[in-house]
Amino acid sequence: MKSFEIKTKVYFGDQALDRLAEIPYRKVLVITDPFMAQSSMINLITDPLKKGKIEFDIFKDVVPDPPIEKISEGVKKMLEYKPDAIVAVGGGSAIDSSKSIREFALRVDNYGKVGLIAIPTTSGTGSEVTSFAVVSDPKEQMKYPLVSRDLTPDEAILDAELVKSVPPAITADTGMDVFTHALEACVSTNKNDFSTALAEKAIEICGVFLLRAYLDGNDTHARQKMHSASCLAGLAFNSASLGLNHGMAHQLGAIFHIPHGRANAMLLPHIIEFNSDINKHSKSRTEYLPAVKRYATVAQLLGLSSYNKIMTVRSLVNWVQFMLKEMDIPLSISQMGTISEEEYMNAIDHMADAAMADGCTDTNPRVPRKADVVQLYKNLW
Ligand SMILES: NC(=O)c1ccc[n+]([C@@H]2O[C@H](COP(=O)([O-])OP(=O)(O)OC[C@H]3O[C@@H](n4cnc5c(N)ncnc54)[C@H](O)[C@@H]3O)[C@@H](O)[C@H]2O)c1
Ligand SMILES: [Fe+2]
Repeated sequence: MKSFEIKTKVYFGDQALDRLAEIPYRKVLVITDPFMAQSSMINLITDPLKKGKIEFDIFKDVVPDPPIEKISEGVKKMLEYKPDAIVAVGGGSAIDSSKSIREFALRVDNYGKVGLIAIPTTSGTGSEVTSFAVVSDPKEQMKYPLVSRDLTPDEAILDAELVKSVPPAITADTGMDVFTHALEACVSTNKNDFSTALAEKAIEICGVFLLRAYLDGNDTHARQKMHSASCLAGLAFNSASLGLNHGMAHQLGAIFHIPHGRANAMLLPHIIEFNSDINKHSKSRTEYLPAVKRYATVAQLLGLSSYNKIMTVRSLVNWVQFMLKEMDIPLSISQMGTISEEEYMNAIDHMADAAMADGCTDTNPRVPRKADVVQLYKNLW
């Protein structure tokens, strides 16, 4: 038996942030990063809270790829302030921090039910609707995905006004994270009709609007569409889970601090080739791996040609590489120019072990051996 649930109530469209004036809470802790706290955009959050006569305080020390130390500081703050809800404002790092802070604080002192309202300011992780939170342990150079239904926000507020200030490079990285979520959900061994419907819509939107949002950050329509796509892809992978792409990307983030979406984007062409067992030398054959049919559907959604299976999968790989080039995302680690070949090659064995153990890898459509993962990391150089 399977089930499909959307636990989070999603508010979206014009004036969506007005919801903050009417939330059923009296005392909230806003958790955000220093950029947002210093920007005038924070008023878009605090003004409706004031209008609703809701008491609030701000914890603004979130950092990208939230490390355990920062989560502990947030736990301390929450237990001192004892809010009846948390309002998470920011990218995946702020939302994941908020999920972890609430979870760990209530384990220390279960003083009552604490709501969680997530307000994304990037169109990327879909964390506003997922039961995942990714926490980093810099000492061990590891990223741990925490998974529990209890982490899922009660409400999400999607307002694309908050995303307009995202610079092109972060629009590119986070947008490719959306695409990777949707694609991995489409080919996951855990996929179902509900998750696939959501993922396919997200893919269609990425095909039309990601480049537009990248080229003109003030293109409101494109921003709104990508904000919806991010949430749709989040709902999709919350049900279908992800795959090897994310399992391997987490290690590139943990060790080399490559932004999450960028690491996913760079790996994508390699993972599509691995999962389909189709590369630029392939000839047609009588049988294909299961992912091939699903990649073909995705290619069609993007408007790519479908002469035969090999060319269709190749067109999908080419589309991803085209997007990377257009949005100035490096195609390889060596092209980044910031990591030496020696340090990268030395890290591969450890990264391969960690990617094999990563929970996302379990639902990859092709079961990888460690040697495959090692080879994929080498190919990425
Ligand atoms: N929980 C999940 O389901 C899930 C899924 C995928 C990724 N993640 C995690 O989320 C994190 C990545 O999140 P992210 O990609 O949203 O990036 P992020 O939250 O780390 O933010 C990246 C940068 O963008 C800046 N930023 C955010 N909003 C901005 C705005 N409106 N204008 C200008 N700058 C802005 C931030 O200050 C930061 O410097 C990683 O830790 C990743 O592992 C979580
Ligand atoms: Fe992701």
